[in-house]
Amino acid sequence: MDVMKSRLVLLLMCISIYAVPLATAEEHVWTFDDDAVDWTPANGSWQVEEGIYKQTMRWGEAQKALVDGAEWTDHTLEARVRVDDGHWGGIVFRAQNEFEYYVYLICPKENKSELWRHRHSTVFKDGFEARDEIEHDIEPIGLTITRNEWFTLRVVVEGSRIAVAINDIEQGVFIDDAYPVGKVGVWTWDTQASFDDVSVNGFATASLTAIEPRGKLAVSWAALKRQ
Ligand SMILES: *[C@@H]1O[C@H](CO)[C@@H](O)[C@H](O)[C@H]1NC(C)=O
Ligand SMILES: *[C@@H]1O[C@H](CO)[C@@H](O)[C@H](O)[C@H]1NC(C)=O
Repeated sequence: MDVMKSRLVLLLMCISIYAVPLATAEEHVWTFDDDAVDWTPANGSWQVEEGIYKQTMRWGEAQKALVDGAEWTDHTLEARVRVDDGHWGGIVFRAQNEFEYYVYLICPKENKSELWRHRHSTVFKDGFEARDEIEHDIEPIGLTITRNEWFTLRVVVEGSRIAVAINDIEQGVFIDDAYPVGKVGVWTWDTQASFDDVSVNGFATASLTAIEPRGKLAVSWAALKRQ
């Protein structure tokens, strides 16, 4: 009996070790000088304009673009975010797919930031409305969140610990263990917003191959896809 128990424990240990994907240290920066290589939009209208990655459709739920090809465990994600029109724009991390992910966003209308966990739902159409707040009312520390102004959003995720910061000022630390690994991205909701200098530094389960086509005019991802 004891032998069987210890074998079971050993088996479970093996399974849990191998269930964690092998991760390697990676760093990536996207400045959107020419294009948005690696980025895949899901909903919304995304394009690179004058070195900025923009979502230009005013209305639409959970419009996002995710970085394909790598999933990150513990990492730091940072991006410059500017809400141009509307109320909600932010950064996505540990995305399982288009519907399951965390988003840290700014809301200039109410001078606050918010942290949400989106999940799958069969009840709501497309599942975009299915989400749980981790904290929907993070009062800004040391700044005022406004429209038409760049803010540097940062999340540092280590295991279930999620630390959020704006302009290098920590805004809060939260705990959630729903998604241990996933993609990164940027996000809007009924909002036109601009994104720049996205960087991710941490442990990825796959390596992104950097493709840097040079001497190109700013072209939109949509235009690239049509070619
Ligand atoms: C969002 O995109 C997905 C496919 O990526 C599509 O199935 C869905 O219908 C889109 N939703 C809206 C509201 O455009
Ligand atoms: C935004 O919120 C912060 C923190 O509560 C506050 O210090 C600041 O004055 C607010 N800004 C405006 C314009 O209300």
